[in-house]
Amino acid sequence: MSYDEVMRLALERGFYVPSCEIYADAPAGFWDYGPVGTAFKNKFVELWRREVLRRDEMVEIDGSQIMAKDVFVASGHLENFFDPIVTCTKCKTTIRADRLISEKTGKNIPERLSDHDYDSLLKENNVRCPKCGGELGQVSKFNMMFKVGVGAANLDTYLRPETCQSIFVDFPRFFKIMRGKLPFPMAQLGKSFRNEIAPRQSLMRLREFYQAEIEIFFNPDKVNDVEEFEEVRNYPLRLMRGEDTVEAVPCEKAVEQGLVPSRFVAYYLSLIQQFYEKAGIDLNRFRFRRLAEDEKAFYAKVAFDVEVQTSLGWIELVACNDRSDYDLKRHSEVSKSDMTVLDGDVKVLPNVFELSMGVDRSLYCILEHSLVKEEKRDVLKLKPQLAPVQVGVFPLVTKEGLPDKANQIYSTLKKEFQTTYDVSGSIGRRYRRLDEIGTPLGITVDFDTLKDDTVTLRERDSMQQSRIKVSEVLQKVRSYYYQEAQLV
Ligand code: GLY
Repeated sequence: MSYDEVMRLALERGFYVPSCEIYADAPAGFWDYGPVGTAFKNKFVELWRREVLRRDEMVEIDGSQIMAKDVFVASGHLENFFDPIVTCTKCKTTIRADRLISEKTGKNIPERLSDHDYDSLLKENNVRCPKCGGELGQVSKFNMMFKVGVGAANLDTYLRPETCQSIFVDFPRFFKIMRGKLPFPMAQLGKSFRNEIAPRQSLMRLREFYQAEIEIFFNPDKVNDVEEFEEVRNYPLRLMRGEDTVEAVPCEKAVEQGLVPSRFVAYYLSLIQQFYEKAGIDLNRFRFRRLAEDEKAFYAKVAFDVEVQTSLGWIELVACNDRSDYDLKRHSEVSKSDMTVLDGDVKVLPNVFELSMGVDRSLYCILEHSLVKEEKRDVLKLKPQLAPVQVGVFPLVTKEGLPDKANQIYSTLKKEFQTTYDVSGSIGRRYRRLDEIGTPLGITVDFDTLKDDTVTLRERDSMQQSRIKVSEVLQKVRSYYYQEAQLV
């Protein structure tokens, strides 16, 4: 499906809408999840918790969004977290220099060249202001963090640009409290903030966004000594080879051939690929791309991006970075705290491998991969575990006691399942509404219900209908979700 179709669905059904939309001064890059979107996001996060965190016995924390300035002195974000920008001398529009050059040349331009290099590229390619054709000024750097003045003293602090900084700062304490052993994975779901120059395409590039990050602290001397590798030895990782091809390479072979640096990394890449498959991403449109030197973030030693193909092109959903001991070393130097821990009897400063997931983009991609146009309907074929509404209950008409009967069923189901009760419009329209938000089951009370105490159970994808006894409804819905939970 196209971006426009997904946007239509998002706005009409309340998945997400622009923030502050009734005000003319609403800034771009901020979106609100509506009732259906919030439920969808929560389900996605639950799946991540179940299929990745619980499976690998990770611990989860929930840190502050505002953090001390020194955190970002240590992390390097104050020094390095910049976008190259250029302002038009005529209309004063500010634009990202790397994007402008990319658009003009059709080539991928790295984000971390010097200002001088960007200036030269702009000149060589005769790039002018895309808005008014005016001459461009000199390239400069724009720090993407939001500064916050805390308290009456207006103390300099920052909204975190990545959730993982609280994980690094808190690591030694929680490692001790949890009686941790390396490798020790810590996770966090929360908001991060980046003052993007060009936010765009709704959930694709936001200024305030959800990250689901996992930071695995490990001993770099033991990267091939990973018990869990047995589980994934033959699992085919979808690795990008050359310019345009993707090859499914079993984990063991990928490590042997040096496509993936270690068993440790292969294991975690396989976890994230399996997770996306369970979340409804079409694996034929999924790949890991190893980043070139000049594409990596400043803290990364080795980096793979999870990319998913959409109508907007390949979209990065997860940054899988080997951050070496960069973060703990820097926090230890700046804070003068000891960040080492014991691995057996040996004192080590752990290295970090991270799986940094963009939640909002992931939700967009799942919507795009799940939305299907059929002859008579648009249907959102979400995995049942991600359905914002699990079951709909309808009386066929609003007379002869049908609403009372339907209400009884609704009252029972809503105690256990996200259930909706809908009386408005024809039954066909009510099914369409359910289809568009991806509800797998619909239950209709009709005149036969009054005679034989049966209802119609309708399944979203096949549209098959069966008659079941009212007394069996709860059990049927339970077993559907229980079995699907095993299958996703
Ligand atoms: N923590 C890595 C990132 O935010 O991309």
